[in-house]
Amino acid sequence: MNYRKKTVRDVDVNGKKVLLRCDFNVPQDKETGEITSDKRIVAALPTIQYLLDQHAAVIACSHLGKPKNGPDPKLSLAPVAQRLGELLGKSVLFARDVVGEDAQAKAAALQPGELLLLENTRFEKGETKNDPELAKAMASMADVYVSDAFGAVHRAHASTAGVAAYLPAVSGFLIQKELEVLGSAISSPKRPLVAILGGSKVSGKIGVINNLLEIADTIIIGGGMAYTFSAAQGGKIGDSLLEADWMEYSREMVEKAAAKGVKLLLPVDTVCADAFAPDAKSQVVKAGEIPDGWQGLDIGPETVKLYCAAVADAGTVIWNGPMGVFEFPAFARGTEAMAKALSETDAITIIGGGDSAAAVEQLGYADKMTHISTGGGASLEFLEGKELPGVACLLDR
Ligand code: 3PG
Repeated sequence: MNYRKKTVRDVDVNGKKVLLRCDFNVPQDKETGEITSDKRIVAALPTIQYLLDQHAAVIACSHLGKPKNGPDPKLSLAPVAQRLGELLGKSVLFARDVVGEDAQAKAAALQPGELLLLENTRFEKGETKNDPELAKAMASMADVYVSDAFGAVHRAHASTAGVAAYLPAVSGFLIQKELEVLGSAISSPKRPLVAILGGSKVSGKIGVINNLLEIADTIIIGGGMAYTFSAAQGGKIGDSLLEADWMEYSREMVEKAAAKGVKLLLPVDTVCADAFAPDAKSQVVKAGEIPDGWQGLDIGPETVKLYCAAVADAGTVIWNGPMGVFEFPAFARGTEAMAKALSETDAITIIGGGDSAAAVEQLGYADKMTHISTGGGASLEFLEGKELPGVACLLDR
């Protein structure tokens, strides 16, 4: 995939109407609807501010959640408009629909230097179907399309990709940075390139393991998926997570790594518990020797040493997926030790979005990393080497 895309700096936006796709899919309190993290709104500010400074009239849009049957007041972007206004210190107009009368009228009246946020794009059924009629209607309100929604570039939706067929399409600063950092880590990494892969399921990481086996020097496996690898090697894993259907694949990956000369590191010990609970009784055992009735919830201390040593010598580290159940403090040690090791290494450190980003933030190491991706699914698909529709649709440099 070509990562060299035109940016907002490569087009004239002065006095133009700009349709700006952001990823304002923010977490909200289930009861009150209050925004619990405004990181994604903050991440969009540099592009918004630049466009306003360039006297563009900015029509911002985003999805929020997964509304199934049209408008759902609980998933309105109105609270995002308010928070955006507070962060920018200026009023943000809000349209009650996406391409309806209100949006059309407000977009038509929008003046240079003003900002309008449209309602949740997924309130339109055509959004997730990448309906050309919807894309055309959105595009008709603007002269230029800017995408800064890295978190949604893996979606071929009307607002993330479809509109690019009707307008000159460029990236904002957030996508530009994500492409630069993730792109160079994949295409020309400072070596050794160490990939740390965790999380619960092998099935969710197949594409990433496949692709990284072609690129990385070392692959470190942790989290729940390590137990499927262990079982595939004939280990006893007690009640640990097992994806029996993926044992054969895990075995093949170990063989493939050996054939390619990629170091594939698997846990040598495990912190196992007598229940999946924060206050469960725990013990450290050798990998593959988990007693019946016990389940592995974290990597053990010897594994931590082994993995930290691999990270210490790295040129680039890409981390996707926690090493254990970090939400339970008793089983967060492995994840925390890796976060600390990454904070201390001289390597370029890149954290995939989603759980790994949450872990690094929760454990207090976020500002020590080179880059924390704002995309969960998007950064995963990037590492899988897949073409991302929301990137492919932008003009090449
Ligand atoms: C995310 O939160 O990962 C992005 O906003 C994409 O959201 P989606 O999975 O609902 O498409």
